[in-house]
Amino acid sequence: MTATILDGKALAKEMRAELAEQTAEFIQDSGVVPCLAAVLVGDDPASEIYVRNKQKACDRTGIESKLHRLPSDTSMDELLTVVNRLNRDDQVHGILVQLPLPEGLDETRILKAVSPMKDVDAFHPENVGLIVQNRPRFLPCTPAGIQQLLLRKNIEIAGAHVMVVGRSDIVGKPMGIILMQRGPGGDATVTVCHSRTKNLPEICREADILVVAIGRAKFVTADMVKPGATVVDVGMNRTEEGLCGDVDFEAVKEVAGAITPVPGGVGPLTITMLLQNTLTAARLQLTS
Ligand code: GUN
Repeated sequence: MTATILDGKALAKEMRAELAEQTAEFIQDSGVVPCLAAVLVGDDPASEIYVRNKQKACDRTGIESKLHRLPSDTSMDELLTVVNRLNRDDQVHGILVQLPLPEGLDETRILKAVSPMKDVDAFHPENVGLIVQNRPRFLPCTPAGIQQLLLRKNIEIAGAHVMVVGRSDIVGKPMGIILMQRGPGGDATVTVCHSRTKNLPEICREADILVVAIGRAKFVTADMVKPGATVVDVGMNRTEEGLCGDVDFEAVKEVAGAITPVPGGVGPLTITMLLQNTLTAARLQLTS
């Protein structure tokens, strides 16, 4: 049997319509227009596309967006000055520094410089700590988008064995944490695998839900998937054949029960959670 295709693009459209309503209501009640400032350093073509998509999504939701472009030879001091200016700017509610930064810039230091109240990526150590303690201020965008997809497609998370393949700070680690938390959208049994894991195919075959974020094209093959499992592909690999996920989609869809496509799966949901966080940031700054 062929898997159900989990259409992230269609779901994101529904969620953005809900968010546009909430944003309009917020603007009417407060007189404040939520605003996201994106900082793009250098000219990485993939980052250009991501940032453009994020801005477009803001515009369609009624959220203002500002782009700060800096050359690839920007120094740490110059970048910190921009971030600090945005931290102090009352018109800016959310700040996003697009990653990866050009070589020579210290990502950890820059992400720590973003005000935790404007940190809509949830990358600041204070916000990571709050996520770990199950009292999030902002949701980690990609993991929260995946959690929404599972919830809204009625895929049972509680008690499920979730396998996360990849241990990045942006996806793998926070994904494992939010699905293992006590409460709705959580209560899963989580295993995190990575490049040093022994017997990876055998372990993956145990998964009821397999989330793949390892950054290698077609890494997960059909023999690594339990029949009927849900497969979520976070990969975005540019290959000679074009854009390709971390999962061998054509083969795995014949084994899985449900699967996300690339593109049109996780990506649009990540951006939706960023919009949600920007609205949350505007709300927080109104009351603080
Ligand atoms: N680069 C790849 N993914 C992300 C993300 O979620 N946020 C930011 N700021 N940069 C990224």
